[in-house]
Amino acid sequence: MTTATSKKKSGMKKITVPQLISMKRAGQKITMLTAYDYTMASLLDSAGIDTLLVGDSMAMVVQGHENTLPVTLDEMIYHAEMVGRAAKRALVVVDLPFPINHQGVYQTVIAAGRILKETRCQAVKLEGGAEQAEVIKALVSAGIPVMAHVGLRPQSVHTMGGYKIQRDKEQLIEDAIAAQEAGAFSIVLECIPSEIAKIATERLAIPTIGIGAGPDCDGQVLVINDMLGMTSGHVPSFVKAYANIREVISNAAQEWCEEVRDGSYPDEAHSFE
Ligand code: KIV
Repeated sequence: MTTATSKKKSGMKKITVPQLISMKRAGQKITMLTAYDYTMASLLDSAGIDTLLVGDSMAMVVQGHENTLPVTLDEMIYHAEMVGRAAKRALVVVDLPFPINHQGVYQTVIAAGRILKETRCQAVKLEGGAEQAEVIKALVSAGIPVMAHVGLRPQSVHTMGGYKIQRDKEQLIEDAIAAQEAGAFSIVLECIPSEIAKIATERLAIPTIGIGAGPDCDGQVLVINDMLGMTSGHVPSFVKAYANIREVISNAAQEWCEEVRDGSYPDEAHSFE
């Protein structure tokens, strides 16, 4: 069966990089959420999310580290493969983990190439703007679509002295334009004032995806655990929780424990004759 026939049969059309750029031109907002495993990625894909991000936030929300630095390339690939397998429609972007894109163009192309070869995902994201222009160019010329990430860059948490709003307007705009000129197809703008995000969005031909960057970006992204109300510690003020899954899970687990302890589970309906 050809790829075209199998897609026709499943009735599901995969979102493409050029399509995301067309969405900006058409004024259609782009949705992106993080996903780290098959079940969640399938749910989000069926819900109609345009883009899934296998973010290095996985280091914090899945692995329990205090920042995003410890997650490895092999771990990113392991999880990206699950998400790539689940996503029938959404375009899947995978973060290059720290410090791969600072190890030179050659190492970065090898790492990003592994991601595309081994995971069925379609693009990589890297933190940086102007200073990453050479790396972005090399990836793009190797056929690897790149989403850049400017503003608050969590992989530079130690240099930035914490997770702080970034307000250097000239630098932010310069980074965004440099990433576009290097060939990035989209840019995440994290934790910057709405006014700067608006200017960047108007100046760029490629879509901006905001997180803590106000309403004028071409799209929005959130960490899934935060937007579902699953995060136990600090949640950034720009996050809106659309559910309280932490409470739902906790209540269900407590109820199940009670029923097992008092003997009411399993009852007849949940046992074999
Ligand atoms: O790793 C991640 O989840 C991200 C988003 C916060 C944009 O980079």
